[in-house]
Amino acid sequence: MTDTRPLALITGASAGIGYELARQFAEHGYDLVVNAEDERLESAARSLRETGAQVRPVRADLRTREGVERLLAAVEGLTVDVAALNAGVGQGGAFVDTDPADDQAVIDLNVTATVRLAKPLLRAMVARGAGRIAFTSSVASMMPGPFQPVYNASKSFVQSFAEALGEEVRDTGVTITSFMPGATETDFFRRAGMAHDTRMGASKKDDPAQVAEQAFTAIVKGERKSVTGSLKAKAMGAAGKVLPDGVKAAAHRRMAEPGTGKDAGPGSGAGPRAPPPRGGGRGARGRWNQGGGAPASRGARHAGSPSEQVFRRTVSAAGSADPDGRAGGRSHRRSWGCDPGRAAAGGRGRRSWSDRHWCGSVRRG
Ligand SMILES: NC(=O)c1ccc[n+]([C@@H]2O[C@H](COP(=O)([O-])OP(=O)(O)OC[C@H]3O[C@@H](n4cnc5c(N)ncnc54)[C@H](OP(=O)(O)O)[C@@H]3O)[C@@H](O)[C@H]2O)c1
Repeated sequence: MTDTRPLALITGASAGIGYELARQFAEHGYDLVVNAEDERLESAARSLRETGAQVRPVRADLRTREGVERLLAAVEGLTVDVAALNAGVGQGGAFVDTDPADDQAVIDLNVTATVRLAKPLLRAMVARGAGRIAFTSSVASMMPGPFQPVYNASKSFVQSFAEALGEEVRDTGVTITSFMPGATETDFFRRAGMAHDTRMGASKKDDPAQVAEQAFTAIVKGERKSVTGSLKAKAMGAAGKVLPDGVKAAAHRRMAEPGTGKDAGPGSGAGPRAPPPRGGGRGARGRWNQGGGAPASRGARHAGSPSEQVFRRTVSAAGSADPDGRAGGRSHRRSWGCDPGRAAAGGRGRRSWSDRHWCGSVRRG
């Protein structure tokens, strides 16, 4: 780490939103300590070094106390200017069906690790009178989440926790930012086992680079909270503030219940797909889930109450503009995080690491 550049610590930085957030910080002159669990963190770190930043990868499973301690030990003695506590996983399916160990893994990572990391990092910042902590929350924090109930509850926890800390430290020189992405094109839904058989998993999603760019701005401005991403995410954030919980829960069911993916409709990107190249998502505990195969749900067949229909129409109207001019039917490469268009663009514009990673994986596969 250099003495002249500020330092950002980012968890869950090997892919998706965390990787793009790390890139934002690196491109804005920060050195990085980046964390994830798997070996692909090393290639993410190599890619981030191309920006000129010093990058220290720390592989640690944050679901465990030992993993949290290893990460904290890696920054001991360093001045962490920004800590982005971003690592998180989801878990789709009916609560009565999901494995209790998977439910617990969501809580261990999204909630317990976040609290364990936040305290020492925040203590050091408050003692110094400077620093920024960011939490990756979600628009899911604003609504009950049937068919991913533990995940939504974990994000409600993160959101409440972040807002409470923001108030506690408001006169200390430290800022707390929670940013709330909507559905974003990352490994998230595949790992949660929701990629192919839920409307939410199959629908068009936001670009993680856009989410990260907006999050970076919110963090450096010290904003308390920010809905990040497309108009669709912001519409969900606005709707989330005003609609009754019962309406949001019923609408969530229609997007997250297994079988609803078949009903995603034109412009959603959920067309007929080739089978996934790696046989499903890697779940909260790191195993690979099988996507699809669930029977068509009640939610897929019924239109819902008038207010649910308004909620869903708001969301799909905001999200239906397909920049590629296609009415659904994205290739499975795109739906798996590899955008062949962007990948083929080569020198024209920056390719995200996930494009390169997944295009590479799919080609190799
Ligand atoms: N994608 C969305 O639609 C969406 C929307 C709102 C909020 N979010 C939130 O955004 C955050 C990032 O998710 P993402 O969408 O970018 O998903 P992602 O592409 O799956 O990235 C998740 C990151 O977390 C890391 N991670 C997972 N388990 C870990 C563990 N036990 N210990 C340490 N690191 C671990 C992963 O690294 P490994 O591969 O090494 O495990 C990866 O770097 C999460 O908090 C998620 O809840 C996502």
